[in-house]
Amino acid sequence: MEHKERVFSGVQPTGNLHLGNYLGAIKRFVDLQKDHDCLYCVVDLHAITVWQEPAELTRNIREVAAAFIAAGIDPEQQIIFNQSQVSGHAELAWIFNCVARMGWLNRMTQFKEKAGKHRENASVGLFAYPNLMAADILLYRATHVPVGEDQKQHLELARDIAQKFNNDFSDSIEKAGFADGFFPLPEPLIAGPATRVMSLRNGSEKMSKSAASDMSRINLTDDADTIARKVKKAKTDPDALPSEVEGLEGRPEAANLVGIYAALADIEVGEVLKQFGGAGFGTFKPALVELAVERLAPISGEMKRLVGEAGEIDRILNQGADRAREIANPIMSKVRQIVGFIGD
Ligand code: AMP
Ligand code: TRP
Repeated sequence: MEHKERVFSGVQPTGNLHLGNYLGAIKRFVDLQKDHDCLYCVVDLHAITVWQEPAELTRNIREVAAAFIAAGIDPEQQIIFNQSQVSGHAELAWIFNCVARMGWLNRMTQFKEKAGKHRENASVGLFAYPNLMAADILLYRATHVPVGEDQKQHLELARDIAQKFNNDFSDSIEKAGFADGFFPLPEPLIAGPATRVMSLRNGSEKMSKSAASDMSRINLTDDADTIARKVKKAKTDPDALPSEVEGLEGRPEAANLVGIYAALADIEVGEVLKQFGGAGFGTFKPALVELAVERLAPISGEMKRLVGEAGEIDRILNQGADRAREIANPIMSKVRQIVGFIGD
C-alpha cells in the first residue's frame, strides 16, 4: 500500500532562531506547502532535554510559531502546532524507546556533541531524543521530512525504527488490516545550497543557536544595521570569488557566503558565481547585505508584531493542536491495538 504523502518537520524553541534555521528548514517548509499537506511543529518536548528556564521557554515557543507564520506558512491551510499539546508524541516515543536499541542510539553524533565530556550528567531525555523525533514523524505516518544536513542521522534512525516496528509486529499489523507494514519509511528532504549554513566567524563550524558569539550568526530578529555589521565582519579569505563552483573547494568561508546568497536569491551557486566571479568581497559583501536585508526584514518585522500578540499565537497553536490530534488519534489507536494493549 502506498502511504499518503504528508510532510512533517519540527524546530526547537531554544531561542536565537538564525539564518541556518531559515534557509535549511523554515524557508523550505514554506515552499513545500504549495503542493503538500504539512504539519510544522514547535518541539518543546525536545527543547527540555537540556535545561530551559520556564518563562523563557514559553516566550520561545511563541517566537518559533511567529517565525513560521511570518516566513509565510499559512496556518489555515497547514497545521502549525506545539508538540506538548498533543499527548501522542510522548506516548509513541515511549513505545519507540522499547523498539530502538541502545546500540543504535549510542552511534548518534549529535548526542555525543551535546553531551560532550559530561555524558554521565546528560539527561536521559537527551539520549532518547531521536526516538521522540521518530515518534513526531510517525504519529502522523508522515512520508517527507524537510531538515538541515545535521538531522540526517536522526532521520535514518527514524527509518530504522519504522522498519523494526513493521517487522516485529508484522503478524499483528496484518491482523489489523495493513498488508505491507504500518509505518512508512520517512524520507529526508535535504537539498539546496544551504543545508548546512556555517558560522560567520569560522567556516568549519555550523551556525548555531548556542554559539557564544552573536557575531557568528544572523538572527531572524536582527535589524538591517546588525545584519550589515555581521556580514561585513564575516571571516573571508583575501582572494576574489571564482567563476566556477569548483573554485570554492578549500574555501569554506567563501563557499558559505555564496551558498547563503544563492539560497536567499533562490538561484544555484553557479549562477551567483556567473554574476560575481572575479569580484572581491568588497563588492560581494554589500550585495549580500542588501539581499539579506530585503529578504529578512519583512520576516523579522512580522515576527515582532506577532510576538506582541500572544493571544493570537496561542489561538493558532490551540487550533493546530486540535487538527493534529484528529490525525494522530486514529493512528495511535491502531498502534495500541497492534502492540497488544487493550484498546479504546
Ligand atoms: P533546531 O534549531 O536544532 O531545532 O533546528 C531546526 C531546523 O533547522 C532543523 O531542520 C535543522 O537541521 C536546521 N538547521 C539548524 N542549524 C542549521 C544550519 N546551520 N544550517 C542549515 N540548517 C540548520
Ligand atoms: N531534532 C530536530 C532539530 O534539532 C527538531 C525535530 C524534532 C524534528 N522532531 C522533528 C525535525 C521531526 C524533523 C522532524 O533540528
